[in-house]
Amino acid sequence: MMWLAQPLLFVAILITNGHAQNRAGPPIVDLGYAKYLGNRSFPDTVAYLGLPYAEPPLGERRFRAPVPLNTARISREAKGAVIDATKYPPFCVQGTSGDREVSGAGSEDCLNLNIYAPSSANKKSNCYVFGNPANWPFDHWIHQSPNVVIVSIYYRLSSFGFLATPELSDSKLGDLNAGFKDQVEALRWIKRNIATFGGNPNKVTIDGVSAGGSSVHLHLVANEKERLFSGAIAQSNYRTSVPTPEQQKVGETFSLMNTTDASHPAII
Ligand SMILES: *[C@@H]1O[C@H](CO)[C@@H](O)[C@H](O)[C@H]1NC(C)=O
Ligand SMILES: *[C@@H]1O[C@H](CO)[C@@H](O)[C@H](O)[C@H]1NC(C)=O
Repeated sequence: MMWLAQPLLFVAILITNGHAQNRAGPPIVDLGYAKYLGNRSFPDTVAYLGLPYAEPPLGERRFRAPVPLNTARISREAKGAVIDATKYPPFCVQGTSGDREVSGAGSEDCLNLNIYAPSSANKKSNCYVFGNPANWPFDHWIHQSPNVVIVSIYYRLSSFGFLATPELSDSKLGDLNAGFKDQVEALRWIKRNIATFGGNPNKVTIDGVSAGGSSVHLHLVANEKERLFSGAIAQSNYRTSVPTPEQQKVGETFSLMNTTDASHPAII
């Protein structure tokens, strides 16, 4: 279980060809199904925070593979208004590692990503993705290296993302590797939408740190047909032997789990 309690840091870098945004007015991006207002954190940097990339994994969707974002729903609920994306959304529930950077309780409704974009990107731009973004803002990266677009992905952690029991091999009960599938779904959203932020969807480099480094290794051998990224960087890779579903039988590893209340997760 230690590997699940580690901060899961997942990073992606997109090498892109940016296009200019209007620097005069408020930083608003139009994705076709919704318009989002970003935060101009530096004169040359805009952060769009908390953009959903999948449906909320709540209720019957807990322990399930992510459901692709229902853009018609987002559009309907916005009622034509620009959606405020200037504040950090809640991060995904994760147990504490004793490190102040990892804050324990979060939200189950957390399948969002943050995008940091140059406010006028005419050159090549890159993109970066990280697992605990409220504590790891990337505005300054853009300010210092205005040839990148950075994306940080929130994905389900700990038991919500990586509960592995023989029971979940039965798709009637749930799906294995939900958190990893969240990452894949986020990469699909990025491929579809990053051009609007100045990114090149065909030049995506994923970068993961610690347990995120392990995720990068896994992406290298998964989903080969989809070609969701073209480069990969694994940093400070956190490698332990991954327990088999049999080693993680319900009642043993998860005997501590005694709540369905997301605001009081008894899951470490
Ligand atoms: C938004 O940008 C301002 C500077 O314009 C900065 O002080 C603030 O921290 C930013 N907000 C977030 C949530 O990063
Ligand atoms: C689990 O939660 C229920 C309801 O809150 C409580 O009655 C019970 O004592 C708890 N069991 C354990 C083992 O903590």
